Amino acid sequence: MCGIVGYIGSNEKKNIILSGLKELEYRGYDSAGISVLSNNILSTFKTTGKLINLENKCKDFNSSGFGVAIGHTRWATHGKATEVNAHPHFGESSSVVHNGIIENFLEVKQLLESRGKIFLSQTDTEVIVHLFEENLKIYPNHLEAFKNTINSLIGSYAILLITKSAPDRIFYAKNGSPLLIGASKDEIYFASSSTPLIGLIDRVCYLEDGDIGVMDTKSFDNLKNIQPMGGEKISSQKDGYRYFMEKEIYEQHKVLKDTLRNRILDDDIILDLPDNFEDDISRIYICACGTSYNAGLSAKYLFEREAKIKTDVVIASEFRYADPIMEKDTLFIVISQSGETADTLEALKLANKNNLKTLAICNVDNSSIVREAKYSLLTRVGIEKGVASTKAFSSQVILLWMLGIYIAKKKSLISIEQVRTQVSNIKASIEATKVNACIHDRLKKISKRYLHGHGFFFIGRDIFYPLALEGALKLKEISYLHADGYPGGEMKHGPIALADSELFCVSLMPKHLLYDKIKNNIQELSARDATICIVAQEYNDIADDIVLIDKFNSYMEEFFAMMIVLQLLALEISIRLGNDVDMPRNLAKSVTVE
Ligand code: G6P
Repeated sequence: MCGIVGYIGSNEKKNIILSGLKELEYRGYDSAGISVLSNNILSTFKTTGKLINLENKCKDFNSSGFGVAIGHTRWATHGKATEVNAHPHFGESSSVVHNGIIENFLEVKQLLESRGKIFLSQTDTEVIVHLFEENLKIYPNHLEAFKNTINSLIGSYAILLITKSAPDRIFYAKNGSPLLIGASKDEIYFASSSTPLIGLIDRVCYLEDGDIGVMDTKSFDNLKNIQPMGGEKISSQKDGYRYFMEKEIYEQHKVLKDTLRNRILDDDIILDLPDNFEDDISRIYICACGTSYNAGLSAKYLFEREAKIKTDVVIASEFRYADPIMEKDTLFIVISQSGETADTLEALKLANKNNLKTLAICNVDNSSIVREAKYSLLTRVGIEKGVASTKAFSSQVILLWMLGIYIAKKKSLISIEQVRTQVSNIKASIEATKVNACIHDRLKKISKRYLHGHGFFFIGRDIFYPLALEGALKLKEISYLHADGYPGGEMKHGPIALADSELFCVSLMPKHLLYDKIKNNIQELSARDATICIVAQEYNDIADDIVLIDKFNSYMEEFFAMMIVLQLLALEISIRLGNDVDMPRNLAKSVTVE
């Protein structure tokens, strides 16, 4: 989603901003722009499409000496993805970039228009720069003018503003959208996540909601909560794979071992949580969006069956406005690969306000969600670049599974022997994510049969139902074909009306869980001529197509082996359709607006 980078210093500002924006590129965007203020000249460049277009547009531009610069990648919310709607937005002598949504922009715009301001774009953001310039006429002090501007805005925002009459500083404000400031020797950097700043700064300050201020090269030390920031830039490479998504599917069996690292000792589960963590927990509430929601739904089956703890799962955007009943004995878990999803973050804040015990399952340390949660456990699978989430999903399920067993053990709901069995099952399940080259070849081949039709149903029962949801989500994200996940037993209550030979039913048929039940459900669809693609351990004659996974002894190993099949199936269909696998249209990796 939208990304922000800012810089104060003497190095080539254009290059710094462009390479920072490149680090944010994988998150998804549809236009981009930069403004550089140096030697009293404010230059702005904007384009639609990929950053390469912006690079080409400003290839002859250089700015020597000291100056300030801001840049932005935009994921359209208000107004189409056009050049004029791209950020930065500018007034007579100032320029602004913004992530988030200004909810009262229409009122502010009307007021400014009544005072003669001309608006160029359809965005909510443009009001900020015009209001600031109006306020500068009233308040000679720049910071006062900026503060008054911000205080008139309702909504969520991370904002950077530069202006010609204060050429050595950047004005900033944060509320609800992430923003951080970093410093190295004589330079100051801003960004909407730490990724663009790794290797460039040695100290960082994660701004809090409500922070408004101004920064020059001398004022960094006045900030609160400055932390050291080390690390070298590790630019993620495709390592010979065609797409990041493909690489991330293949590396799951390795990186999932990092999810386990130091958490399994002598066949026991040790989590970095306080001793009495399990006290007062008699139920679990899980809240998340997208793929993380599907991981949460999978965890419900594990928590209830294997750990004997009552669990509810809810989509974060639904939770927020439903006046949810929050009982004190609840562990409130949020799941997020990015740690920045606006709805999940707000749901978490609500749970904190209600004094629940909150725990984040997240892949990004220091993200807004990790910082907001009372406790957190990191999935540790490294940066995920493909917008369609793969290794984040598997790591979330593994970590939640461990958490359930950990709590059940501490509450004496299961025996030490049962813990041991679960631990060996977890390890075996990780092994089951190793891609079998023959299965991948088979998927490459059969994918050509699934490029048309009037839609897909992915069906499964029990924990294979959330896996079916995830398989359908993967496919629609990157193929743009209609796909739905459904519980196998529910198809006859409506969806079966769609069955004909052009309806593709990808059916998850584990040997070790409700085999006969799902077989019946598949037979019902087959009898109505639906095209059936079965994923199973053994040959079955109801199938039009069959993808055979290896032989496993437990349903969770089958779960993870089938997950790989679904991820690869989506990948191969998307490749055949000629789509941008890693950056599918309209999607963003980090969704910072509600
Ligand atoms: C976006 C991403 C999805 C992700 C969802 C939730 O839609 O494209 O891959 O599942 O957000 O993101 P989170 O970072 O909270 O897991």
